[in-house]
Amino acid sequence: AEVTFDYENLQGVEGGLEDGDLDGVRPRLKEAVDGLLGDPPGFMRLPKTREYAESSVSLAEEIRGSGATDFVHVGIGGSALGPMAVHRALNHPYYNMLSGEARRGPRVHFAENTDPATLSAVLDVADPGGTWVNVVTKSGSTAETMANFLVIRGFLVDALGSFGYQGRTVATTDPEKGFLKEISEREDLRVLPIPADVGGRFSVLTPVGLLPAAVTGLDVGAMLAGAAQCVDEVQEQGPEHQAVVGAAMHYLMDTQRGRNVRVMMPYADSLERLAAWFVQLWAESLGKEGKGSTPHGAVGTTDQHSQVQLYMEGPQDKVIEIVEVEDHPKDLSIPKAYEDLEGVGYLGGHTMAELLNVECDATRKALTEAGRPNSTIKLGAVNEENLGYLFQALEIQTAITGDLYGVNAFDQPGVEAGKEITYKRMGRPGH
Ligand code: PA5
Repeated sequence: AEVTFDYENLQGVEGGLEDGDLDGVRPRLKEAVDGLLGDPPGFMRLPKTREYAESSVSLAEEIRGSGATDFVHVGIGGSALGPMAVHRALNHPYYNMLSGEARRGPRVHFAENTDPATLSAVLDVADPGGTWVNVVTKSGSTAETMANFLVIRGFLVDALGSFGYQGRTVATTDPEKGFLKEISEREDLRVLPIPADVGGRFSVLTPVGLLPAAVTGLDVGAMLAGAAQCVDEVQEQGPEHQAVVGAAMHYLMDTQRGRNVRVMMPYADSLERLAAWFVQLWAESLGKEGKGSTPHGAVGTTDQHSQVQLYMEGPQDKVIEIVEVEDHPKDLSIPKAYEDLEGVGYLGGHTMAELLNVECDATRKALTEAGRPNSTIKLGAVNEENLGYLFQALEIQTAITGDLYGVNAFDQPGVEAGKEITYKRMGRPGH
């Protein structure tokens, strides 16, 4: 995998870190890594064991081979953001509009929010005769997911009858417990497991992420190989691994330099949803007990014409993390024209990828010169292997940062109160 982390511009700049800062936290960082490697959380096991690759790929092949026209992935939060990030990063931006060989699987739709406008739109375009539904909930009873599922189930039962519906439905859930497990047994649905020891936002390399990726013909083996390389490197390098060092860097920027906003700004449209995935990972894992920094997603160059003004001259409360892509999957030459007009003619002869990467570098330099701390994650290319590596690296970084803050990165008690009120108002028994 070709993924690197560069924190130089967190140190050299005014308001950034000094050498002693990192040294001060090193013993705790070492302790955190030793703890993580001594008793690895479930998500770190997945890339090496590949325990869910075969079942996900073979079910995906069955779905693709069945002549499926549409695949509706129903889930929210950690049960949706990873698959959405993978789809946006690695499939054609207009994937659903491609035809013939160019589209390697059925059209893909995500039913995440409970917004009826979105769900109606899915039902408007999905062909009930060829639709598969994958309902994904680890707990087995998330209100948003179950409501979306019940609507889609009704749509499929109406079109295909109960037998037809059952043959086209996958339940991705905890194999040991929960209402979705009970439904899957009652209706004899196909089931893929979300292991008990892997939390939602750490589950992209379980069937949660692997099945939808494989349904669109992506190479989940390469994604797992990239993630496995990351685990190997963290095992070898321990606190010296750059993603691990990054945990300390971001922790220090928040707690010692007051930079309590972490912006992830990929210079590639395809990575916009990766930032959304990361925002959830960082926010839900670390925002506890009055601690944590606020993650935010932006996209370069687009947000140079929007948020970068704030990043350059607004409050000194941010770390900007640029995600740079060396080789873009496509490039276009910019034709020469209007050469007599100095404000336009200079563009001809360059390429679009060149312009994108020059702008990326220019923003980094401008931020640095303005004393605005920034870091860079560089990907050789946006491909399965690098994405797998990056998922794993950011998950490890988040888990270690949780340790540095002294919070449990794997729970989310703060989301329960709103759920309780909803259950009560919607009439769920016992609430
Ligand atoms: O990361 C998490 O644990 C959450 O964001 C969950 O993924 C989200 O609440 C959905 O949960 P479930 O998969 O149980 O429906």
